[in-house]
Amino acid sequence: MSSAAAAPLTLFASDNYAGVHPAALQAIAAANEGWAPAYGDDPWTAALRSQLRELLGDVEPYPVFNGTGGNVTVLSAVLRPYEAVICPETAHINVDECGAPERIAGAKLVDVPTPDGKLTPELLRSRLVGFGDQHHVQAKVVSISQSTELGTVYSPDETAALAETAHLAGLYLHVDGARLVNAAEGLGVSLRAITTDAGADLLTLGGTKSGLLGAEAAVFLRPDLAAGYLYARKQGMQLASKMRFISAQLLSLFEGDLWRETAGHANDMARRLGDAVAAVPGVRLAYPVEANAVFAALPAVVIERLHERYHFYVWDEAAGVVRWMCSWQTTPGDVDALVAALREVMAAA
Ligand SMILES: Cc1ncc(COP(=O)(O)O)c(C=O)c1O
Repeated sequence: MSSAAAAPLTLFASDNYAGVHPAALQAIAAANEGWAPAYGDDPWTAALRSQLRELLGDVEPYPVFNGTGGNVTVLSAVLRPYEAVICPETAHINVDECGAPERIAGAKLVDVPTPDGKLTPELLRSRLVGFGDQHHVQAKVVSISQSTELGTVYSPDETAALAETAHLAGLYLHVDGARLVNAAEGLGVSLRAITTDAGADLLTLGGTKSGLLGAEAAVFLRPDLAAGYLYARKQGMQLASKMRFISAQLLSLFEGDLWRETAGHANDMARRLGDAVAAVPGVRLAYPVEANAVFAALPAVVIERLHERYHFYVWDEAAGVVRWMCSWQTTPGDVDALVAALREVMAAA
């Protein structure tokens, strides 16, 4: 395919629109040396497991293909059929997984409206009801996204407060960490500080949005919860036969500073975009820019005109809120060009 396929028009639609990071491609090529045991019994998977233990503590990590599969199989490993997951209304598991948690994990999702994509202990407590009542679904997991679908992040203390509230009621805390690296970089903390050390029990660790090719990990921060996961992963169709190529990519991201570099860069680009956009008369940031997403409220006619030049998603049609995502591949020039286009379209509106 010619390079015209990567037209600049799609630059801010999603961090998934970015290409594969050269380090990931090199890792795949380097792992392509002869034969290796399949289904995870290979040296790359063993090295990845040790590396993630270095970063996250005494955890049980398992490579998987994608984020939806990671979320669903982790949930299915710990839930009984009558148990439920409490999550923000905006959660990926609630709105962007086509009902997979309900159909495949068999879990009822109890979704909670939030002002900024973040659950709080108070919001959570409002749904901690019906325990012991045979007519009620029994809440067992609280799931939060870090960073959230609205580009906001939970501080270590906010995560710890949720974990404490969940644990007091006998629930586990699951972190959908498709963009955990962006949250950690945004906060300037370690991955461990917002997961294991904050009391989270379960994690879906993202790699794809940092430039990997179909590589994520289901991570049991409490190893005892991993008891049935090998079976849940296979039944959930997330067991890779040629796992070495997934593990090698994740290793390339997490064994050195690549995760920090890629996430830090994406966040920097979002901050540059957010600052510039906020300075355009008539434009308002809808949420604080805390990771690699920028949400802005624009007049409908401006969205329409800008769409002629850039493909991006309208997050809230009624409020005119749009989303621009930055990635490891976004350049300062890309950001400045979008801002210039926005200024032009706003001035003409
Ligand atoms: C918060 C969140 N969780 C999980 C995912 C993983 O989705 P996928 O199944 O496309 O890898 C995404 C991707 O957009 C996401 O934004």
